[in-house]
Amino acid sequence: MSDLEKTKRQLSASGPNMPKRQSKKRKPSKPKESAQKQKTLQSAKVSGPPAEAAPEEERNVIFKPNEGPQTAFLAAAERECLYGGAAGGGKSYAMLVDPLRYMTHPQFSGLLLRKTTEELRELIWKSQELYPKVYPGIKWSERKMQWVAPSGARLWLSYLDRDEDVLRYQGLSFSWIGMDEMTQWQTPFAWNYLRSRLRSTASDLPIFMRATTNPGGVGHAWVKKMFIDPAVFGESFDATDIDTGQTLRYPTGHKRQGEALFKRRFIPARLADNPYLSEQGDYEANLLSLPEHQRRQLLEGSWDISEGAAFTEFDRNVHVVEPYEIPKTWTKFRSCDYGYGSYSAVLWFAVNPDEQLIVYRELYVSKVLASDLADMVLELEQDDGNIKYGVLDSSCWHKRGDTGPSLAEQMISRGCRWRPSDRSAGSRVAGKNELHRRLKVDEDTFESQIVFFSSLTNLIAQLPVIPLDKKNPEDIDTKSEDHIYDSLRYGIMSRPRFGTFGFSSTPQTYAPIDRVFGY
Ligand SMILES: Nc1ncnc2c1ncn2[C@@H]1O[C@H](COP(=O)(O)OP(=O)(O)OP(=O)(O)O)[C@@H](O)[C@H]1O
Ligand SMILES: [Mg+2]
Repeated sequence: MSDLEKTKRQLSASGPNMPKRQSKKRKPSKPKESAQKQKTLQSAKVSGPPAEAAPEEERNVIFKPNEGPQTAFLAAAERECLYGGAAGGGKSYAMLVDPLRYMTHPQFSGLLLRKTTEELRELIWKSQELYPKVYPGIKWSERKMQWVAPSGARLWLSYLDRDEDVLRYQGLSFSWIGMDEMTQWQTPFAWNYLRSRLRSTASDLPIFMRATTNPGGVGHAWVKKMFIDPAVFGESFDATDIDTGQTLRYPTGHKRQGEALFKRRFIPARLADNPYLSEQGDYEANLLSLPEHQRRQLLEGSWDISEGAAFTEFDRNVHVVEPYEIPKTWTKFRSCDYGYGSYSAVLWFAVNPDEQLIVYRELYVSKVLASDLADMVLELEQDDGNIKYGVLDSSCWHKRGDTGPSLAEQMISRGCRWRPSDRSAGSRVAGKNELHRRLKVDEDTFESQIVFFSSLTNLIAQLPVIPLDKKNPEDIDTKSEDHIYDSLRYGIMSRPRFGTFGFSSTPQTYAPIDRVFGY
């Protein structure tokens, strides 16, 4: 059994919270003991506590992960993991520690990157403080910018400024690649290229790519698409193509054809999770003094800040709730914006006794025929009980050129009933106003009149960043990805609260459309 294998077995038995990986680097406090003990401690020094380890107080603990996200990051088993959010959460420090666990393996080869040499300096200084304490005898070569452990394991600390710089790594392979401050890279080019350099250098060395970052920065949008948007925070998910949103899969002809390629995970960082900084209140005070935009990104670690966004009041802490079972007595309805070439967006709403809307499900699909969409909708709501009504983009009632039933008719004929959305003049602006009103947080209850289940990953990804129309700030930019937004608008406008807000819209009551059977 290799050292690494032994280590893994010891570790998996040692901590319920760290089933896959472990990160404590410990060093014996009394090196001159019996030969037998010495041997045990020797391995403990590099690999974590052996099964019958000495109590912690007898050991010289060099690094102990902060509870919460830092621990989760170091224990993550996903191929690609991003630890991101508030400034000072302990992200870069965790990044420096992560590769250390493999430095007993002679074939380990790791690469830790920052954007420029100046920024890299800080990591080098920190590593110079930490590494020799963990691995006495480890050597830093300034010329090669490399750490070489007594075992022969290597960790290269490098910078990658321009895309062409990736050529420096051509032909090399690494089993661990880390990128500190990921949003400083304008495009995902370097990250994707580096994936081609990720190869196990020995059969017992797993492969990982790790990143840390604050929100904001030139790469905010692509990083958000790659790591933040696809899943509920902290949950593992199948890696997706950031342009299409489709899961990356093994190609046809491959023996694993169709299987998902690998997993990703995002772990949110908060300043409060790092006692080394959060207890010095002055650091927090510095962050509090920043303009709101930066404050929300750096202190709260918010990813939902976007220049020119229409719904800046969107706040995950208020508007996103964990899914729960909806009482049978609450009214339910759904809304839909149909698109074949682009996307169809269906949302399901429940109304609680306080008239708060709970958007509890989304269906966001592309290239699905109207009749198939109808089947999908009916299937999804099988256990929902009574769906009182559905409201669909009224243009779906238009005949498209030739003969044949309209899109609405195609759906209704499958048993999926709809009524048309309000498309009257001013309805777009009215819908936007109504959404603002619903998102507003009540000063007494701290609640809003609309909430979204955290499982609605597409809606939560899009709503906070929908841009305003630069020419007409009363509306959103309709060139943006707005299918979910339109569906949401149709939904909320099907239940306006008359008298509580002032806009002129034709109230939508039950309005049978005689061209379409029955509704
Ligand atoms: N587990 C730990 N043990 C000891 N010190 C720690 C630990 N985690 C973090 N620290 C200390 O907290 C400091 C701040 O952490 P770090 O630089 O990693 O934060 P960060 O999240 O990368 O911040 P930024 O967002 O500004 O880049 C570190 O320099 C280190 O001294
Ligand atoms: Mg950092």
